[in-house]
Amino acid sequence: MGKNISEKLKSGAVIALQGTLGTGKTTFVKGIALGLDITENITSPTYTIISEYYGKKALYHMDLYRIDSYEEFELLGTDEMIYGSGITIIEWSEKITDYLPDNTININISILPDKKRKIDIVGIQ
Ligand SMILES: Nc1ncnc2c1ncn2[C@@H]1O[C@H](COP(=O)(O)OP(=O)(O)OP(=O)(O)O)[C@@H](O)[C@H]1O
Ligand SMILES: [Mg+2]
Repeated sequence: MGKNISEKLKSGAVIALQGTLGTGKTTFVKGIALGLDITENITSPTYTIISEYYGKKALYHMDLYRIDSYEEFELLGTDEMIYGSGITIIEWSEKITDYLPDNTININISILPDKKRKIDIVGIQ
């Protein structure tokens, strides 16, 4: 699914990727990276907060689990990424929802009783 979606992402796209602990957010980003021809291994940026990868487009993978305020987020230089020409994907974006661009794509992953994943996507043309 991530790989398929990657073809529809325009330069500068911002994705708010939501879902509780361990639903498969980082796994979904791996699919997107595959679609962007990124060969590097995608790891969870829980401690580094942001990982940058370069393929057909730049991919900024953020994980805000450990971020406490918008100020802390902004000090990491995130505006340049969010308003740049790469693709920005943000796990735990709930923490900064009010500051995201109006055209942010929302993807929500949830786990069904049979352990399959339900992926809701809003905002991709
Ligand atoms: N579509 C899927 N179907 C079944 N299992 C999956 C799927 N996606 C991910 N998983 C499994 O779920 C576990 C958690 O995946 P992942 O690390 O991608 O979740 P996460 O939402 O990024 O977690 P965190 O909240 O810690 O950032 C992994 O063991 C992964 O293999
Ligand atoms: Mg993750």
